[in-house]
Amino acid sequence: MKPTISPSILNCDIADLVGELKKISNADFAHVDIMDNHFVPNLTWGLPVVEAIIARNILPIDCHLMIEDPDRWAPAYAEAGAASVTFHAEAAGAPIRLAKEIRNQGARVGLALKPTTDIHDYLDVLDEFDMILVMTVEPGFGGQPFLESQMSKVRRVREAADKRGLELAIQVDGGISRKTIEKAAEAGADVFVAGSAVYRAEDAYAEVDELRKLASQAMHRH
Ligand code: DX5
Ligand code: ZN
Repeated sequence: MKPTISPSILNCDIADLVGELKKISNADFAHVDIMDNHFVPNLTWGLPVVEAIIARNILPIDCHLMIEDPDRWAPAYAEAGAASVTFHAEAAGAPIRLAKEIRNQGARVGLALKPTTDIHDYLDVLDEFDMILVMTVEPGFGGQPFLESQMSKVRRVREAADKRGLELAIQVDGGISRKTIEKAAEAGADVFVAGSAVYRAEDAYAEVDELRKLASQAMHRH
């Protein structure tokens, strides 16, 4: 298993999105946080910005939808050409139906869980998803400290997926840096979102490489 690095552009220089995306050309995806000021107390961008970024064809786009009513809004991101579309379990009315719809549009589909959301109810339906996103901060803002408490959730998902022979990606998002990425990798995560760690680094490209190296070493120790 190889690590996947998906830097979050939430706190990049948004006046120069294209330039900021080009800085991380060695990443696997660019993680784009969609916030509606209802599901989370913050507002970012929506479909037109995502479409514009996709059109530049710099990196595959990994959309993280922190919005109410994803049943209504999420399929359009897949239709627009996002490589991966992740919605929140707490917000979806019919998560399985929505997952199928996103897959039918040709995107990978992810299910995100806030730190206090139990994974238990979803363990029997893991095969409906390509990825589980275990939030390692309360969603809404970059730059918050990593919640190590979430590592037991990562472990539970990985164990359940392995037991059933599922090739499930597990993404961690929030507070991922050189200090925390190995813990997440050791617990079983393989997709790493890092926002401030990458964009506050002097050299974003080198930081992506460094995070990939640390994650890879930790994954092979296990
Ligand atoms: C938070 C977002 C994250 C955020 C991560 O709600 O989902 O993607 O940008 O930022 P850092 O890496 O700074 O915690
Ligand atoms: Zn995110």
